[in-house]
Amino acid sequence: MNKTSYQIILLIPILFSNITSCNTNKSNNQPPHIELDENKHKNAKVIFENTCSGCHGERIETFVDRKWKYGKSKDSLIESIKNGYADAGMPSFKSAFSEDDFNELAEYIMNGIEIIKKLDFKDVEVKSNIFISESQKIQLDTIAKGIKVPWGMAFLPNNEMLITERAGKLYKLKSNKTLINIDGVPDVVAEGQGGLLDITLHPDFSDNHIIYLSYAIFKKTDSITLATTAVMKAKLVGNNLIDQQNIFVALPFSRTRHHFGSRLQFGNDGKLYISVGERGNEKENPQSLSNFLGKIHRINDDGSIPQDNPFVNQTGSIPSIYSYGHRNPQGMTLNPRTGEIWVNEHGPRGGDEINIIRKGKNYGWPIITYGINYDGKIISNLTKKDGMEQPVKYWTPSIAPSGIAFVTGDKYKNWEGGLLSGSLRFRYLNHSKIRTNKIIGEDEILLRNIGRIRNVKMGNDGFIYVAVDGSKNWSGGIFKLVPLN
Ligand code: HEC
Repeated sequence: MNKTSYQIILLIPILFSNITSCNTNKSNNQPPHIELDENKHKNAKVIFENTCSGCHGERIETFVDRKWKYGKSKDSLIESIKNGYADAGMPSFKSAFSEDDFNELAEYIMNGIEIIKKLDFKDVEVKSNIFISESQKIQLDTIAKGIKVPWGMAFLPNNEMLITERAGKLYKLKSNKTLINIDGVPDVVAEGQGGLLDITLHPDFSDNHIIYLSYAIFKKTDSITLATTAVMKAKLVGNNLIDQQNIFVALPFSRTRHHFGSRLQFGNDGKLYISVGERGNEKENPQSLSNFLGKIHRINDDGSIPQDNPFVNQTGSIPSIYSYGHRNPQGMTLNPRTGEIWVNEHGPRGGDEINIIRKGKNYGWPIITYGINYDGKIISNLTKKDGMEQPVKYWTPSIAPSGIAFVTGDKYKNWEGGLLSGSLRFRYLNHSKIRTNKIIGEDEILLRNIGRIRNVKMGNDGFIYVAVDGSKNWSGGIFKLVPLN
């Protein structure tokens, strides 16, 4: 048996707190290498890569470098993996593996914890904020920092910006880069993937100052707190929201804290499109027209139902539904060329998709999918079926896309008309080439490792802006891509 040693490459945390500094230049940031006995945890490593990495990151190190919630003793690790925490999005693997596998996985995780401890995890001060990909050279400028999970961005006519933070705050970013707290936001359940989520302006914002916020609304029962996706309409006056009104609540409420969807986008038709995830109940929700979950909805600006929605006259159907069979759309935008709504959505393990949203169509989840289940179980053998839409693109492995934007204007010559998606999982900005409404060629990757990219938008000034999650080593915030070629 040949004995090779595995090289574990650690991502060096990049210090973001010093404004714009970050760099992907590998020669500057040689990662340390650690030798591991490959036979010891070979099986566990394979299980981790195939089954756990979709949620916990590519590498064991990214997973173990955490504050442990349920304990890191061998017994508690095995307990977590076996039983899962279904409400928080951690599946149970009881039936997927043997006792030996559980033992080995726990040891593998513990070994990873030791590695992290041994490493002198120093923050590296980087000297450059220049990023280069095949066709782009850009300078990354920090616009706002100290926002842990920036979720929604909206550009005001006066070049100020509104930014939601998932924990439950809304900020106005002044042109002098200070963040002002906006009062009057809804109470949110900031747990799991829930919180204060997207924001969009009314198409006539300049005149009426109306904004829309999506969020995880909650309802307390005797024993538990239930949550769902809601949309609040409000008027922005100074640094306050007034005339708040919930114009959309996705029913039913559920006990889970994931797959809220929540992107907001006005169409050229003046209607508000809202994405709602299936809340972790794929069996019941996305294919049924009698609930709100796993759908794209279309409403009037006051929350009433447009009479040309596809299911308004179908008894038992929710009239705001515009399309169905979705899993968890985390990006939604308008294609400026065609006026169509495009979304990207998270698949299970593999099978993230980009879809063009068309009236009354079924996007197939979970009947057809290019992904398989987290515990390795097949969800469906079908990737295509009559009466169900095909994605314009799918990603395997999953990149966990969040935020989506078409490149407009002429500031980014090599990316004109292209499509950008943030990646939460691989921490980069993804560029797809588009020709005649189709995605062609290989993706291009920029801003690798800068952090979980939560959102991407074109500003009114023609620049691309990204919202990046913070982590223990750097402060999250909003960054602007200044083209250098
Ligand atoms: C569908 C996404 C998903 C997959 C796949 C997944 N996990 Fe998890 N896991 C989670 C989430 C979310 C949590 C946090 C639960 C919470 O906060 O209550 C978690 C928590 C855990 C914990 C407890 C962490 C702590 O802080 O105490 C362990 C251990 C764990 N996962 C191991 C694994 C292993 C091993 C695998 C693969 C066999 C795996 N997970 C696969 C989503 C996932």
